[in-house]
Amino acid sequence: MPATLHSLDRDRLALLMERESRTFTAAHPRSGALHERATLSLLAGVPMNWMVKWAGPYPLFVDEARGAHFTCVDGHDYVDFCLGDTGAMAGHGPTPTIVAVERQLRRGITHMLPTEDAIAVGEELQRRFGLPYWQFTITATDANRFSLRLGRMITGRSKVVVHNHCYHGSVDEAFAVLGTDGRVVPRKGLVGPAVDPSLTTRVVEFNDIPALERALEDGDVAVVMIEPALTNVGIVLPEPGYLEAVRAITRRTGTLLLVDETHTICAGPGGMTALHGLEPDILVIGKTIGGGIPAGTYGFTQDVADRITAMTTIEESDVGGVGGTLAGYALSLAAIRATLVEVMTGEAFERMIPLAERWARGVAAVIASRGVPWHVARLGARAEYHFMPDPPRNGSEQAAHGDFELERFLHLYAMNRRILMTPFHNMALMSPATTEADVDRHTEVFASAVDELFGI
Ligand SMILES: Cc1ncc(COP(=O)(O)O)c(C=O)c1O
Repeated sequence: MPATLHSLDRDRLALLMERESRTFTAAHPRSGALHERATLSLLAGVPMNWMVKWAGPYPLFVDEARGAHFTCVDGHDYVDFCLGDTGAMAGHGPTPTIVAVERQLRRGITHMLPTEDAIAVGEELQRRFGLPYWQFTITATDANRFSLRLGRMITGRSKVVVHNHCYHGSVDEAFAVLGTDGRVVPRKGLVGPAVDPSLTTRVVEFNDIPALERALEDGDVAVVMIEPALTNVGIVLPEPGYLEAVRAITRRTGTLLLVDETHTICAGPGGMTALHGLEPDILVIGKTIGGGIPAGTYGFTQDVADRITAMTTIEESDVGGVGGTLAGYALSLAAIRATLVEVMTGEAFERMIPLAERWARGVAAVIASRGVPWHVARLGARAEYHFMPDPPRNGSEQAAHGDFELERFLHLYAMNRRILMTPFHNMALMSPATTEADVDRHTEVFASAVDELFGI
């Protein structure tokens, strides 16, 4: 039984962090040398800016990834709970996807014409999410951006509503948060916005029904874009009745409801839409559906389809801001078909979800037995611990308990013991290839990190 709730000693944390940084450097000389070389041709030595955020003095360079593991260039084997932040949720290199992609590579990667795979995928998405029509993109970001454009076009309205501390990819309208005075302000770190997001966007807290009522009452909002549970600020689950209320208010005010299932697909094969009987006007999903091959999609109702069709001419169909040369290309459709039909099946979720339950149980037991004021949250095959004793109601509560230093330490500690967590928060994702031994290894490492951190 824990005697007291432990509080964090920042000096101890700093010392431990220094030790772990030295351990990392000693164990990863080849990654270190590659990083040195990378700084000569890549900005900050990384191929994309956010990769500087990995805990540790430099990122690991990967030699090879398979299933739920990868090997770094220094020859260490890792359990991968990051899984490309959902891009590799199907596991690294699932065989059916590889077979389909290899076949398609030899039959034409992209040719601006449809293949039969597109129909098979459309039919599978219909079956999973209940929406009749689908379009394809390269990324989930694009699917969200195009959906917002189309939503504005068919409603003739200009505004978008998002949740505070949401993330929907690099979508301009979504980089808005509530300031301390409740007004909409640009999100900290926002790079080069074309216009102040307060001009395009209204922001409401998750689980706040009256705020949503107020945001929609003047009839200026085209689209409410939501994740049915927040996943990017950490997991924030909907309170009973919240999602039903969102649907009722959007319907009453003639506002389109866009459900972004890119991460919440972890809830099951049809995401939270199928699980909770949500009835979005537009549904977006990307990342995992291609098994790692770039792919995104948006689906919509008959009503939305009719309204789009009525406002689209064949002559202008390629220049309206919705498109992309490789959108819907053959290789990605082959990958999506194989990944959805043969890998991310109902049966796969039946294995993945109990693994996430096991992960969460292990972490919760450590937290409880050590008396640490944290908790663990779970959504289907995704679980995460948060530095606060009780589950948050909304993004602000969650963000207020973020702790960058502490998070970096825990990630580096895990990495030094061959476990990879998602870099932006304390999230672990299960793939069909993850095992109970992988999960138990995390529990063990997490327990020893907590013990060292709190001097237990
Ligand atoms: C909910 C959600 N939607 C969309 C995206 C964008 O995905 P991508 O960066 O692959 O376009 C993300 C990325 O994290 C996401 O979390």
